Amino acid sequence: MIDQTKAALLEYKAPGSFEETRYEKLHNVIVNNSSDGSIAIAHCIAKLILAKQKKKETCVLGLATGSSPLSVYRELVRLHQEEGLSFKNVITFNLDEYYPISKEDVQSYYHFMHQNLFNGIDIEPENIHIPNGEVTPEELRASCIAYEKKIKKLGGIDLQILGIGRTGHIGFNEPGSHLNSQTRTITLDHLTRFDASAAFQGIENVPRKAITMGIQTILNAKRILLMAWGTYKAEIIQKAIEGKITDKIPTTYLQYHKNTTLILDTEAASELTRIKTPWLVSSCDWNEANRSKAIAWLSERVNKSILKLTDEDYNQNGMSDLLAQHGSSYD
Ligand code: F6R
Repeated sequence: MIDQTKAALLEYKAPGSFEETRYEKLHNVIVNNSSDGSIAIAHCIAKLILAKQKKKETCVLGLATGSSPLSVYRELVRLHQEEGLSFKNVITFNLDEYYPISKEDVQSYYHFMHQNLFNGIDIEPENIHIPNGEVTPEELRASCIAYEKKIKKLGGIDLQILGIGRTGHIGFNEPGSHLNSQTRTITLDHLTRFDASAAFQGIENVPRKAITMGIQTILNAKRILLMAWGTYKAEIIQKAIEGKITDKIPTTYLQYHKNTTLILDTEAASELTRIKTPWLVSSCDWNEANRSKAIAWLSERVNKSILKLTDEDYNQNGMSDLLAQHGSSYD
């Protein structure tokens, strides 16, 4: 039932252990497309649920909403309905919820989760936890503290699923979020509200606030899988993986976590140094395509026309082996 090869694809490998991961500070796996990646993630989750069932243990999952995990949830529902995977031992905690919002609201994450996952599986309703967007402002703080306590009481999150926002947020931990942050309210950044505006039929309808698990809550998870699909995530993915840890890009905090894997489709991975300019990382296959790409890149980088590029320009920009193959820049 569980495809072990697919699940094994996402096995954690410490970043920095392989030559091609130079510049990279987060372990990542590049898949052909989001469908392959989603199926691999779903099979990883299923494998953990089954392993916990064997040991008669509960499996605590941290879940995300948004467009990224939709196909993961579709595959989990299929595994339940067609292959008998049971979720009776599963306890879930969602990352976030808009505030204020009613559970009946179709834009609420409460609705999203029931629609896309919970209604299609046999999870016990009392095992589902989603931050409550219906509490009064007076109750809010206590409700966040209680959420955090409940996670701890149940032994912490075994596997946390994440997407990434274009602000670099995980959960709704927007730039400026503290490393030690816990479940709390947050004011959403404009870009986050803009990205949600289609679902709400206009940015003016997107709530200004949300409740989110904190950075610390997320980092306490035993295993983290973050997925990113599409070109519009490529720039922030490059910063998250190759950049220094900074509160300006909260995803970089994952560099502190020693069991995190990012699953990227080829488009989301397209700005990584090893993909965009592989000659800066290790020896490169100097086929026609790479040669043209590299020379055009070099000419732009040093701001010279191709005919004016010198041996030194090539040597100083990771292209000395190309030069060796051809004699000199003139050739
Ligand atoms: C949602 C969440 C957010 C999203 C992120 C990406 O629960 O926590 O961090 O994962 O905004 O959203 P999508 O997947 O819609 O691009």
